[in-house]
Amino acid sequence: MIKKYTFGNPFFTGAVVEDIKADNAVVPYFTVNTQNGISFEYIMHDKDIVYGLGEATRGINKRGYVYDSYCSDDFCHMETTKSLYGAHNFILIEGKECFGAFFDYPTRLTFDIGFTKSDTLSVSAEKADIDLYIVEGNSPLEIVKEFRQLIGKSYIPPRWAMGYMQSRWSYYTSDAVREVANKYRDADIPLDAIFLDIDYMEEYKDFTISKERFGDLPELIDEMKQKGIRLVPIIDAGVKIQDGYDIYEEGLEKGYYCVDKEGKPFSAGVWPGLTHFPDFLNEEAGLWFGLKYKALTDLGIEGFWNDMNEPAIFYSEKGIENFYEKLSEITSGDKSVDNYNKIKDIVNSLQNSQDDYNSIYHNVNGKLVKHNDIHNMYGYKMTECTAKALEKLRPEERTLLFSRASYIGMHRSAGIWTGDNFSWWSHILLELKQLPALNMCGFLYVGADLGGFGCNASRDLVLRWLGLGIFTPLLRNHAALCTRDQECYQFENTEDFKNIIELRYRLLPYLYSEFLKCATEDKMFFKPLGFEYKDDEIARATEDQLFVGDELMIAPVYTQNAIGRYVYLPEEMCAVRLKKGGELKFITMEKGHHFVEVPLNEVVFFIRKDKCIPLANPALSTDAMDFDTLELIGYKNAEYKLYTDDGISTDLSKIEIKNLEN
Ligand code: NOJ
Repeated sequence: MIKKYTFGNPFFTGAVVEDIKADNAVVPYFTVNTQNGISFEYIMHDKDIVYGLGEATRGINKRGYVYDSYCSDDFCHMETTKSLYGAHNFILIEGKECFGAFFDYPTRLTFDIGFTKSDTLSVSAEKADIDLYIVEGNSPLEIVKEFRQLIGKSYIPPRWAMGYMQSRWSYYTSDAVREVANKYRDADIPLDAIFLDIDYMEEYKDFTISKERFGDLPELIDEMKQKGIRLVPIIDAGVKIQDGYDIYEEGLEKGYYCVDKEGKPFSAGVWPGLTHFPDFLNEEAGLWFGLKYKALTDLGIEGFWNDMNEPAIFYSEKGIENFYEKLSEITSGDKSVDNYNKIKDIVNSLQNSQDDYNSIYHNVNGKLVKHNDIHNMYGYKMTECTAKALEKLRPEERTLLFSRASYIGMHRSAGIWTGDNFSWWSHILLELKQLPALNMCGFLYVGADLGGFGCNASRDLVLRWLGLGIFTPLLRNHAALCTRDQECYQFENTEDFKNIIELRYRLLPYLYSEFLKCATEDKMFFKPLGFEYKDDEIARATEDQLFVGDELMIAPVYTQNAIGRYVYLPEEMCAVRLKKGGELKFITMEKGHHFVEVPLNEVVFFIRKDKCIPLANPALSTDAMDFDTLELIGYKNAEYKLYTDDGISTDLSKIEIKNLEN
């Protein structure tokens, strides 16, 4: 059961698709205080677990820290970081009481989950204009399902987008792209897509193509497609200010950019230099921008990633003016630490500054709305507009689309990648912990930059990350400028990478089927153990294992030099070990704790009792796979319901369900 409680005059975010009348009764569970903004307080019981918040730092259980829901470009996020790229305001409390709460509020919202006072969960916002939805049900899974029905069906990518994908900032020329494709094919490692980062453009201008470096892009797209490889270009939120650049000029003429207080287009520095931000909250402007993707879909492009859409701001024109002013106040020649600190503060205050977010305005149905009041909706609306336009441009086929910034509601249009991470072991575990939380909020097509975006990846880190990544719907290896090359073929013994990535392709009928099931029936693809074993205290406290679909459990290795790891089985399961050369070994393991050895070139996963899963033969790309000839592994006499379709069609009535028996 879902009830809605409205305070003040909330901004319509569009996150919710069901029309529910607000209840006038007193909000259950929470004590509401509207004296200073608004706050909702819940007293947590000892054994309560607080799940949710989608893309956030820390645990599956969010207790013990304070989180700010405010889309933030934080390249180097750590355990202490409070906000990441997405803002996902859904929490689920499970313990003495069990309920979900969605705070539909489009800007900064603070979740203090036992940080200030260990038994107190406090959710607070600056303005008392908020819609709160309380979701009740018999179990966490039922609550999530109800919540997902409230927010609408999740995005389904084309099946090829569940293949292995390679990215880098940047493959600078079309020949560099060819080299990546050839090297993957030479090493016999499956690959379905190569990503084009900002350097495929002319001076980082959206919807342009560098003549010098990618002059043959149309041929390249065809050539790659022949090999079963799609190219996926990036699109940034900012439009470069440059006379003669048609997109810039058209947007200016039509008044489609965000403005400042004086009504002049707001200018900020991002990769292309000074840019204007399209006003995605203005539907007409959003659709205008969305239809520009045609320049690339006309060439045969079938997928995009939307970036820098928090929006990330390096500096604004105003900010840089203030910067010089403040700098002039600094005593030149002063070599004191004080002066050094002042200089540092002035420089640091430039990027993603609150002053800037306070001086941008949107045109929402003819009314000026301050950006900071709806900050979390910018990337969401950019991506929603893109998806709407792509439906017009490619009505028959699903297009791959994912975004960096997001808000609940965007899950209907696209997936997300979890932004810039690092080649740190802790970021493997962070990804694992974010996955179920993202699913609760409707985001099913998710994954992190595999191998880590910032700093240098080691061979073992990439291999271990694959041990998790081969189970994530979005499986993309991506790395930043100036970091060590981390394509699989860059390391020794490429057959180890091949073997593990081939396992992903073998598992695809299962993973894709579970994905379709979860998207069409509002289920979770990744589940914390406690969601299935509510009365098992150890399962509830397990933070480094997940159920993947209804049949599998994973327990990836995420520490360097580990020879394996402890795994907790809440029930008897069949452990499946991928050996060198692709051989699969099966062993039944009892409920309880086990130390499971996992050599670097092996993967171990678990099939739940009395279940089985389908496997296919791997191929170099999903296009080359036979999805009809399947082998079942797992428990004898078990049955599996296979959800399947042609992998590409937007017509979801084509999804078939087949009963398979082992
Ligand atoms: C930031 C994105 O997060 C990253 O993935 C991308 O490579 C860079 N922008 C450059 O476009």
